[in-house]
Amino acid sequence: MSIPSFTLNRQIEICGPEISERIAAAVASGQFILGSAVTEFETAIARAIGTPHAIGVANGSDALYLALRALGIGTGDEVVTTPFTFFATAGSILRTGAKPVFTDIQVDTFNMDPDTALARVTPRTRAMLPVHLFGLMADMTALMSGYSGPIVEDAAQAIGASLHGRAAGTMGVLGCFSFFPTKNLGAFGDAGLVTAHDTGLADKVKILRVHGATKKYYHETLGINSRLDAMQAAVLSAKLPYLAGWTERRIALATRYTNALTQLGIAEVVPPIVPVGYRHVFHQYTIRAERRDELAQHLKEHGIGTTVYYPLSLHLQPVFRELGYKAGEFPNSEEAQRVVLSLPMFPELTDLEVDQVVEAIGAFYGYHA
Ligand SMILES: Cc1ncc(COP(=O)(O)O)c(C=O)c1O
Repeated sequence: MSIPSFTLNRQIEICGPEISERIAAAVASGQFILGSAVTEFETAIARAIGTPHAIGVANGSDALYLALRALGIGTGDEVVTTPFTFFATAGSILRTGAKPVFTDIQVDTFNMDPDTALARVTPRTRAMLPVHLFGLMADMTALMSGYSGPIVEDAAQAIGASLHGRAAGTMGVLGCFSFFPTKNLGAFGDAGLVTAHDTGLADKVKILRVHGATKKYYHETLGINSRLDAMQAAVLSAKLPYLAGWTERRIALATRYTNALTQLGIAEVVPPIVPVGYRHVFHQYTIRAERRDELAQHLKEHGIGTTVYYPLSLHLQPVFRELGYKAGEFPNSEEAQRVVLSLPMFPELTDLEVDQVVEAIGAFYGYHA
């Protein structure tokens, strides 16, 4: 048996021809950076997400940095965020010169706990940066009712997710997406997006992504080079029409995993939850498992790939040492790093493969259907 934790090989068989056509058109256009392929993608993705402005950038990390910079965040400012996320979330804050202020997560959603987050707000707080981890939105309702400043959504893993019908990337002042190849909508390289309601903020992001230039060779402010390229836009435009179906399939696979795991009733394993009113898009299907490392090893021996997102909470990473956080400070995040295990999840995974993964998990703990 060989079930990878993720593969794109099966997807290419489905949409390869459309991708080739789009790439050929982009090549023929002779525009390789920004240009018509990027504008076309920006228009299509804005409509798909339901946002007035979508600005293509080089990657999700830059999307976060540019969003914070568009808000004028820099040295001396604080941004409240979660320590249980990919590095780029807090890295982008540090990159502006501001200070990431961590707060613990909720055990069952892996997302920023709104109550403790709100308690971390100080007069220096300039924004909140919640992450919609694994495809489940953070509790934006609670954050927005308790904090009147700008909220930037790290929606890198959550395209298509929603909370009470409101899409990820449309609730905060700015939304940031990644199209890293393994994401639910993935390019053939790095790519990212910033979404905005406000035209003024959208314009700032557009200027910041081209070295702060309002007009070619006239620079208003210090920006960076973070343009989306035409090849990536072509790939993304070709894949976008498939996204809704792929998301439905992810949800169906997750439901199958959860039903099967629940049926086995393995005391040591807790499947992910989907709180009422949320649409979880299962970028990852992440369980909490006792003896996690042994389980991962057992699955590996049976040809099943898994991944640990994330093995070390950001507040314990050497790069953030100067912020002065200590082990034990965020118990839920530290517990998560000990027990999380992401099982194989991609739309082309078969029902049979899900059943085989669950069977192998059951066998490890001595449970059988
Ligand atoms: C939560 C989160 N934030 C930010 C990023 C950064 O995106 P990118 O890898 O496109 O720079 C990622 C993706 O890797 C992510 O998962």
